[in-house]
Parts: sequence; structure tokens; C-alpha cells
Amino acid sequence: MKVLFLNHCGKLGGAELCLINTAKPYRDSCLVGLFADDGPLYHWLEQQHIPVQVLATQPIGVRKESSLLQGLASLGQLSPLIAKVALLSHEYDLIFANTHKALVVGALASLFSRRPLVYCLHDILSEDHFSRTNCRIAVTLANHFASRVITNSKATQAAFVQAGGRPDLTDVVYNGFEPEIYQSHKVEYRHMRQQLGLEGRFLVGHFSRLSTWKGQHILIEALRYCPEDVVALLVGDALFDEQDYVQQLHEQVSVLGLKERVRFLGFRSDVVSLMVACDLVAHTSIAPEPFGRVIVEAMLCGRPVVAAQAGGAVELVETDRTGWLVPPGDPQRLGEVISACHNQPEYTATIAYQAQIQASQRFHLSVINQQIAQLLCRTIA
Ligand code: UDP
Ligand code: GLC
Repeated sequence: MKVLFLNHCGKLGGAELCLINTAKPYRDSCLVGLFADDGPLYHWLEQQHIPVQVLATQPIGVRKESSLLQGLASLGQLSPLIAKVALLSHEYDLIFANTHKALVVGALASLFSRRPLVYCLHDILSEDHFSRTNCRIAVTLANHFASRVITNSKATQAAFVQAGGRPDLTDVVYNGFEPEIYQSHKVEYRHMRQQLGLEGRFLVGHFSRLSTWKGQHILIEALRYCPEDVVALLVGDALFDEQDYVQQLHEQVSVLGLKERVRFLGFRSDVVSLMVACDLVAHTSIAPEPFGRVIVEAMLCGRPVVAAQAGGAVELVETDRTGWLVPPGDPQRLGEVISACHNQPEYTATIAYQAQIQASQRFHLSVINQQIAQLLCRTIA
């Protein structure tokens, strides 16, 4: 099957990491079309021998919070890109739009080329995340032009339907992972801690772009309720214009006198080694997380996870069986769970082990890619 994948940016967020895994089985005959070469995605695709091309010559001016007027104004700017994608898609069996802006372009291109469109929805379409106009645009285009809407969790599916999306179009497909990549090694645990100069500390890792809704400030605040030897590792950088938030986080650390207990490591491509070095991984999103790759990755690394109880995270973690859920935006409760894990290492390790076994089966890439293959086959049949 020949698939034309579309993604609006070249940055490496969870939706893009998921796309790499989705596109892999089609690499002999697919193309990933990017609308910008503004990050490492192009090279990551090339490294995996997945054909990739940058299709746009100028950045698209619409943002998540854009109004209808701004959206309409950008349509003129988009028309050369839409025409290019429409022409290109004649060579493919199907268009697979991986992001919101890819849906806008893919929907109109599919109208001209009469190729079926699949929309992979990685976001919760609600006002926590998007302007009302942007939610309406996504739902209207998906309802009219998409043959299928793949959602990355039941929570994402429910939000799509709540926003007016057609339930009959949707299928829930979780992100897939190759468990072998995440197998933990005791040696790495010690080596990385030595490198960080943090031997003997209780390390709580947070792996995410620095963004207000990802709630790194909640973890920093939670340290006040934890024993003194607890250190937070913040892994990730601001991906989408969130420099103000980064500044706020540094100020918060200074004001609370926590400079010795918070490490900012920036964006890292050795997430697995860093996760393995952690005693606990915290997920702290204050808005519902659509899926939450980091939660599953931590489980696959055999690391215990505490996650914010909203959105897709609720489908991934079961308290006291595969991790712990805490109310979003509650640093005290988070601090209590961190302290409890610190005080009960054996019990915590048992939970982490159970989660690792379950996640290796439930989110295995081969199982997930088979689900996608069936959906795509049905779509072009
Ligand atoms: N990640 C990474 N380097 C970093 C921070 C995060 O490679 O420094 C990865 C992380 O391992 C995960 C992805 O970025 O696979 C984030 O995906 P998630 O679904 O958790 O959140 P998103 O940012 O997509 O909302
Ligand atoms: C998006 C979501 C994240 C999800 C990822 C992969 O980036 O924010 O929750 O895990 O897509 O589906």
C-alpha cells in the first residue's frame, strides 16, 4: 500500500515519534511530507530509511489559539501547498494526516485528488488545548473529508465526539513501542548517575517538552513535600514558543531554594538511559493528556510511574497495580506518592515490574501496527 503521510512540522514531539513507528512498515513505497524543516524529524526519518520530503517553502501562520479570521487569512497562503499535495497524492493510495494543520491541507488535497483521507488525531480537541475555532475546523474537516479518524486514546475519541465529531468514523489505536529498546540495565543505572553526579539520591524524572500544560512546576512544588534527598530531573526543552514558562520554572526553583534539587537537562535523545537511571518517573500534565508516551516508556524501562489522573493517562495506569494516579495540579498529593515510593522500594519495584510486563504486551509495536494496517486496508477497499 502506498501511503502519503503528512506532518506540519519537523520538530520531535510525541505525535512525530509515533509517526516514525507508523510509517516504518510502509517505507518501501510511502512518503512523509513535512510542511517545515524546523527540527530533527527529517533526519530521524532518513536514518530509518523512510522517504521524506519538505513540501512547503514558507511556515504556516496558523496557531492553536488562532481565530477564524486568522485561519481564513492563512488559506490563501496554503493554496500552493494544497495544490502540490493534491498532485502528489495521485501517486498514492491514501493520505494520512498526522497533525491538525496536516488535516487542513490533506482534506482539501483529498477533495481534488479523490484519494481517501485518514486523520490520526493525537490531540484532545477541547478548549484546554485549542481555540474554539480550531476545534470546529478540525471536527468539520474530519467529519466531511476523512474516511477514518484514528484517535490515540478513548479520551481523545470522547473529546472528538463531544466537539461534534462523528463517532462512526473513529477507531482507538494506542501508540506502539518496541519493548526491546527499553530493556533496563543495572550498569546503565549506575553509570548515568555517576555522570550526573547524583549517586545516592532518589531521582524523580520528568520527560517532556517544557510547556505550561505539561506541569513541570507541579513537580518542582511537590519537592517541598518530599525528603531532602529527592531530586527532580527535568528532561526536555521548550518546543513551541514557551520560553516564558522556562524562565518561570528557573525563577520558581530560585525562590523555593531548590537549585541543588532540580536539574534541567534540556532535550535529550538518550531518554531510555536517563529513565533507567531514575527511581521514579513523574507525569504532571495539568490539562488532560491525550495519550502520554512517556508513561508507557517509563513502564517499559521497568521504572515506577506516577501520573496525572486525566485524559489518556487513566487508560494507561491503574493505581497500585501498574503505577499511581494523582489529581492533576496537586503538588502535595504528588509529593506524598513520591515519598511513599521512596519509603517502600520493594513494593514500588513490584508495581513497576507488573507494569513492564503489561505494557510490553499491550503496546507492542507489532500489535499496534497490525491494527493500523487493517484499518488502512479497509479504508482503501
Ligand atoms: N522526549 C525526548 N527527549 C526529551 C524529552 C522527551 O525524546 O528530552 C520524548 C519522550 O521520550 C516521548 C516524547 O518525547 O517519547 C513525548 O511524547 P508524549 O506523548 O509523552 O508527549 P507530547 O510531547 O507528545 O505531548
Ligand atoms: C501528542 C499528545 C501526547 C501523545 C502523542 C502521541 O503529542 O500530546 O499525549 O502521547 O501525541 O500520540
